[in-house]
Amino acid sequence: MQVITTCAEMTALCRETPRPLGLVPTMGALHEGHLSLTQQARADNATMAASIFVNPTQFGANEDFSTYPRSMERDLELLSAQGTDLVFAPLPDEVYPDGFDTWIEPGAVAEGMEGAARPGHFRGVATVVAKLFTITWPDRAYFGQKDGQQVAVIRKMNADLNLGVDVVTMPTIREPDGLALSSRNAYLTPEQRAAAPVVYRALRAAESLWHTGERNANRLQAAALAVLQAEPQISAVDYVSIVDAATMAPLNVLDERPAMIATAARLGSVRLIDNVVLL
Ligand code: PAF
Repeated sequence: MQVITTCAEMTALCRETPRPLGLVPTMGALHEGHLSLTQQARADNATMAASIFVNPTQFGANEDFSTYPRSMERDLELLSAQGTDLVFAPLPDEVYPDGFDTWIEPGAVAEGMEGAARPGHFRGVATVVAKLFTITWPDRAYFGQKDGQQVAVIRKMNADLNLGVDVVTMPTIREPDGLALSSRNAYLTPEQRAAAPVVYRALRAAESLWHTGERNANRLQAAALAVLQAEPQISAVDYVSIVDAATMAPLNVLDERPAMIATAARLGSVRLIDNVVLL
C-alpha cells in the first residue's frame, strides 16, 4: 500500500494503475461503515484507492473541525488489511493552496435538511469530492447511504458536470441496537449512547406506518417526531423530513417514487443524522 500526500503524485499513480480504479473518499476515523465501502471497492476493481482528508471547508465556524476524531495510524492499518493499493492523505494546504478560490455550489438538492442546518456544508463537500474525482479520475466511487443527502448532492454534481464516475451507494451499517455507525458516535456519553438508538427507532416508526399504507408526509413525520420527543436525552430535533430520494425535494404525499425519511437530532452537543429509504 502506498500513502501519497501530494495531488500531483496521486494523479500520476492513478494514471498508470490497473483499471478499473475504485475510490473510497473518507475523513478517516474509520469504522465498519467505511470498511463495507472498501470491501466492495476491493471486490469491484483492479485498483482500490482511499482518501483520508478531514475537509475543513465542509465544517461551519462553530462545528467540530478541530476536534473531529483523527486516527491516521490505525486507519492506515485498517486500509492495509483491506488490501488498499493507494491512500491519498494530503494536508489542507495541498488541497486548498493559497489563493484557492473556485467552488462547486450545489443547487436545490442541497437546500433542505443538512444544507439548511449547516450553511456551506455541501459547497465544501461538493468541492472536495470534485477535486478528489479530478485528482484520481476513478471509474467508481463509494459512499454510504447514512449520509443520504450527501450522496444525492454528489450524484447530481457528477451528472451535471459530466464527471463520468460510477457513484456506488452502500447500505448504512448499524450497531446491533440500530444506531447507525458514525465517527461522531465517539462523542456520546454512556447515557447518550444508551439512548441514541431512538433515532433509528423513530425512523422505523414512520416506516412501519408507511407499510400500513399511510402516504401523508405530515402524519409520517409526526410518528417519527413523537418517538424522538419521548426520549429525555434528545435535546433538540433539527428536522424530520420526507423527501424524494433522488432530488431531495420535500414531499407532501408519497407516491410511487422512492422517498427518504431523514432526521437530525441532538443529544446534548452531539448531533446525529440518519435516514431510511421507503421503496
Ligand atoms: O462522508 C465523508 O466522510 C465526507 O463528507 C467526504 C465524502 C469524504 C468528503 O469530505
